[in-house]
Amino acid sequence: MTDITRDVLIVGAGAAGLTAANELRKAGLSVAVLEARDRVGGRLWTDDVDGAMLEIGGQWVSPDQQALIDTIAELGLETFSRYREGDSVYVGADGVAKRFTGEMFPVSAATESAIAEITERLDAMVAEIDPDRPWAHPRAEEWDSVSWDAWLRAQTDDDEAVRNLAFATGSAMLTKPTHAFSLLQSLLMAASAGSYSNLVDADFILDKRVVGGLQQVPLLLAERIGDDLYLNSPVRTLEWGDDGVVAHADGGLTVRARQAILAHAPVLYSRISFVPALPRRQHQLHQHLSMGFVIKVHAVYDRPFWREQGLSGTAFSPYELSHEAYDNTNHGDERGTLVGFVSDRNADGVFELSAEERRERILESLSHYYGPEAKDPVVYYESDWGSEEWTRGAYAASFDLGGLHRYGADLRTAVGPIRFACSDMAGAGYQHVDGAIRMGRLVAGQIVESVGS
Ligand code: FDA
Repeated sequence: MTDITRDVLIVGAGAAGLTAANELRKAGLSVAVLEARDRVGGRLWTDDVDGAMLEIGGQWVSPDQQALIDTIAELGLETFSRYREGDSVYVGADGVAKRFTGEMFPVSAATESAIAEITERLDAMVAEIDPDRPWAHPRAEEWDSVSWDAWLRAQTDDDEAVRNLAFATGSAMLTKPTHAFSLLQSLLMAASAGSYSNLVDADFILDKRVVGGLQQVPLLLAERIGDDLYLNSPVRTLEWGDDGVVAHADGGLTVRARQAILAHAPVLYSRISFVPALPRRQHQLHQHLSMGFVIKVHAVYDRPFWREQGLSGTAFSPYELSHEAYDNTNHGDERGTLVGFVSDRNADGVFELSAEERRERILESLSHYYGPEAKDPVVYYESDWGSEEWTRGAYAASFDLGGLHRYGADLRTAVGPIRFACSDMAGAGYQHVDGAIRMGRLVAGQIVESVGS
């Protein structure tokens, strides 16, 4: 049995929790970070799979993600650019792979003009959205009451245009079917990256990676926490009141603290028994958030063979099982790695198959972009975050239709001594590591201020 007392208890050693812990320590407060897993990083995880270094969770950094960029620099980590020389590939409704450069897919002139017009409309709407307060927009209720799919289909009859516009926030970001979330949720996703155009620009949103993997961010942050980090310690019960909190974790660990930060995905709040129970508002709002679902597929080859054909590795198709794929070769690696994504209903579908059939179907889809050689990787791995008990999906949580304007404003509201921080409630950097760091800093700042006053 271990019974310790600290100023602040932090539940979760992901980017958000570890950022908060370091900020609090800098301000002279003592912390205990309790992590359910046997490792730090949460959705950041670099591992060796059959001799290949794979980034199983988050990896890319975009140029607007200043909080993450600053953290990477402060930790002395090096970045490198995603390989992007040569042609991208698009597979349209006819199933034919077409090469293209630039941002516009090689579609008919009519489809291109529909995509361009609606993109302009979306950029104008996104410019009006404050990513920290999307519910404050005068049309928030209206925009939160119509699904992303229904709104797009009301703009044009061109199915290929709708599919291409839809997947930027659908399959590629919120990783839910486009009828399952609202236009407002989609605008928030785009506003968190600065604009809809930024979000669809792979060279922007998937710009850089960290040499050695992005998990080094939480690993290095955790080193600074030292013995105040407790792995294999899922918090099961949290007693709370005016005097603070008492947390009971596995292994007989009890932590007493004046304040607490729950730094994990909101879908996991209900895994903790709160004593007394959380208020009605939190009981309700937490039920309207759910994780998206995407399989990140890693295929490693003896060489980046697609580069020999003048291909960048960047590939898209709203008709393919793997709706997007990229060159994901590690820094300085002779071997070539492709990463593909299988999202929402497609992910449900392939998990109905045996592992062998699933691999075959997914590699078949990649071969439509890169040719038959794509079917024979030397290492193949599927990141399946849906079966991770302490995450339960990927990439992050979002509101159901109508939930954002109804509950969003209370997502970050403290309950007594308990505060909430996670990428899934960020404005800028929403659903990204940058957002996790921003939320960690925000909540740590609030605690320091409250202690000071
Ligand atoms: P995170 O979920 O990382 O951390 C929470 C921690 O709390 C976990 O370690 C968990 O085990 C722990 N925990 C939960 N319940 C607990 C309990 N009761 N007691 C103790 N501990 C508990 N982002 C990006 O910027 N670029 C990218 O390229 C990608 N790509 C990407 C791919 C994939 C496959 C995934 C899954 C995710 C991404 N992301 C991403 C998203 C990014 O990884 C994610 O937004 C952040 O890492 C989330 O960090 P947090 O600290 O908020 O939560």
